Amino acid sequence: MRTHTCNEISRADIGNTVTLIGWVKSKRDQGAGLIFIDLRDREGVTQIVFKPEISQQNSEVADSLRAEDVIQVTGTVGDRPEIDGQSTANPDIATGEVELVVETVKVVNKSEVLPFPIDKDINNEDLRLKYRYLDMRRPTMARNMKLRHRITKTTRDVLDEDGFLEIETPILSKSTPEGARDFLVPSRMHPGNFYALPQAPQQYKQLLMVGGIEKYFQIARCFRDEDLRADRQPEFTQIDIEASFVQQDDIIGLTETLLGRIFRESIDADIPAKFERITYADALNTYGSDKPDRRFEMHLTDLGEVFANSQFKVFSGALKSGGCIKAINAKGLCGATTGQIDKLTKAAIEAGAKGLAYIQARGPEPKDWRSPITKFLSEEELTALKETLNIEEGDLILFGAGDWDLVCDVLGRVRLMCAEYLNLLEGNTELDFLWVTEFPLLHFDREEGRWHAVHHPFTRPIPEDEEKLKNGEYEGLRAQAYDVVLNGFELGGGSIRIHEADLQDSMFTALGVTEEQKSTMFGHILDAFKFGAPPHGGLALGLDRIAMLVTGSESIREVIAFPKNNRGSDLMSDSPAEVDFKQLRELYIQSTKKKEKKETTSAES
Ligand code: AMO
Ligand code: AMP
Repeated sequence: MRTHTCNEISRADIGNTVTLIGWVKSKRDQGAGLIFIDLRDREGVTQIVFKPEISQQNSEVADSLRAEDVIQVTGTVGDRPEIDGQSTANPDIATGEVELVVETVKVVNKSEVLPFPIDKDINNEDLRLKYRYLDMRRPTMARNMKLRHRITKTTRDVLDEDGFLEIETPILSKSTPEGARDFLVPSRMHPGNFYALPQAPQQYKQLLMVGGIEKYFQIARCFRDEDLRADRQPEFTQIDIEASFVQQDDIIGLTETLLGRIFRESIDADIPAKFERITYADALNTYGSDKPDRRFEMHLTDLGEVFANSQFKVFSGALKSGGCIKAINAKGLCGATTGQIDKLTKAAIEAGAKGLAYIQARGPEPKDWRSPITKFLSEEELTALKETLNIEEGDLILFGAGDWDLVCDVLGRVRLMCAEYLNLLEGNTELDFLWVTEFPLLHFDREEGRWHAVHHPFTRPIPEDEEKLKNGEYEGLRAQAYDVVLNGFELGGGSIRIHEADLQDSMFTALGVTEEQKSTMFGHILDAFKFGAPPHGGLALGLDRIAMLVTGSESIREVIAFPKNNRGSDLMSDSPAEVDFKQLRELYIQSTKKKEKKETTSAES
């Protein structure tokens, strides 16, 4: 239907006959039948011109056209004329030096008036998602889809070149404990039984290793019923990788190669061949996060020595109970508004802190400082504090006191908010890749009184800690687990796995899995490990997050064709939606609606 796309013709085509097809982007009527239209397709825009001296009838057709009508035009490529000595070329578009002078036009399909203009950025995301198929015609969205394709294509190329096999694993599967809630699918053939949509293909990929596949990957859809954020969707895509006979450095090296190629081939960015590594403990101590954004400093500083003998109860209490005192110096944020300080405090409290002590350094000396806590501190403490944190006029100091992990987490969040208030990252184009290693294997949940896997239950402890796991000494065990982080986002994570039935069994014991659960939930994997399972490990990268960062988008919704909104709804197809009573009955599921109705009636009577 066309000889060229709307981004193709140039001066080299002048005089040639060309056919284009696309959408009417905009129309300028110069009067007397002289009409200019910008014609758009996926690739770009070409100016087409209707001249009355060529066809009065065509000009009438052009006159009747509206934005987003689909037209097919044939004509001759012409130079852009000069008017009053000024060139009419448009440097903003690739085809801007030429135009197509229309000889025949066919209206292929008409468009109704649009719910929003395609040309302009709009802020109403719900409206964009309701009409996603129109939103997608916008050049930014088209660019995002192309870049996402480039990322998956590069992934397939790189992994194929390295001998990885792309293998699909079931979507209707069994619950895997990845830490989120499962989406369940009722089984008609097995009344009362459910499939779970995979949170990740974790167990399947390990079983592929037992199956001798050695190198597996999959562009895998994953489903997690968790609270949504800008970088989280209920269904998302992983670049899922697993390999046998590998160690941590093999997976790390492979990931560096893969990300290097992805960033080069999508946005021509050169990233380091090797990424720096930081341990989990150092990441928390210094940045208060296991996905540190290192593009600005504002490090957490330990104040245990400064306040070793403090009379201030909040500080002495923290140290006495085995916790710590830390602070950050937000340079230049002394003038934070009361509203900003309230927001910081609220965030700290939401994260579990009891409060957020602060000092506003309105001058260089402690006497000039404004703070709710300085009255509790001695002169020596204030002097030592000034020295340790390099406090100068204009600084805002924020404190955390209490359990180590809580203090790190709280100040880590506060640190990011301060960076935002200070606009520290505005215009920053750095790509700061980094590995976080030596994660703890287990985390003790005080509320539930039990141990959880920090990564997942298949993660291997470091060799020195294997015996401890078997002996039930769970405190401080370290994992062969690693996360790759970019600019404060966790791009991916993985681990070397347990491949022996007895060690895996010990892990399940640590997690409080009962003997019965072991056989019903994990019998298949424990069995598989009895038949010569190879040592193996892997990782999964969040494809949506990579695409978000590659395209410079604010949210992963910008790089997913049909995402859910932040309430988990697809506004275009209006899902989730009610289903027929009959469908429910076939699945042996009671309609909550009916039940509610019944309950209200019985309550009323
Ligand atoms: P993990 O749970 O860390 O590991 O997930 C791997 C990566 O997937 C991305 N991701 C998400 N992206 C969008 N929306 C979500 N809701 C979401 N949840 C996770 C992140 C994350 O780093 N089976 C293990 C991997 C392994 O051990 O090999 C796993 O799934 O970028
Ligand atoms: P209080 O003695 O409870 O009035 O607290 C004095 C100041 O310390 C207030 O500004 C609190 O917000 C702050 N604060 C209280 N507990 C903590 C804590 N655990 N970490 C940091 N600041 C705290």
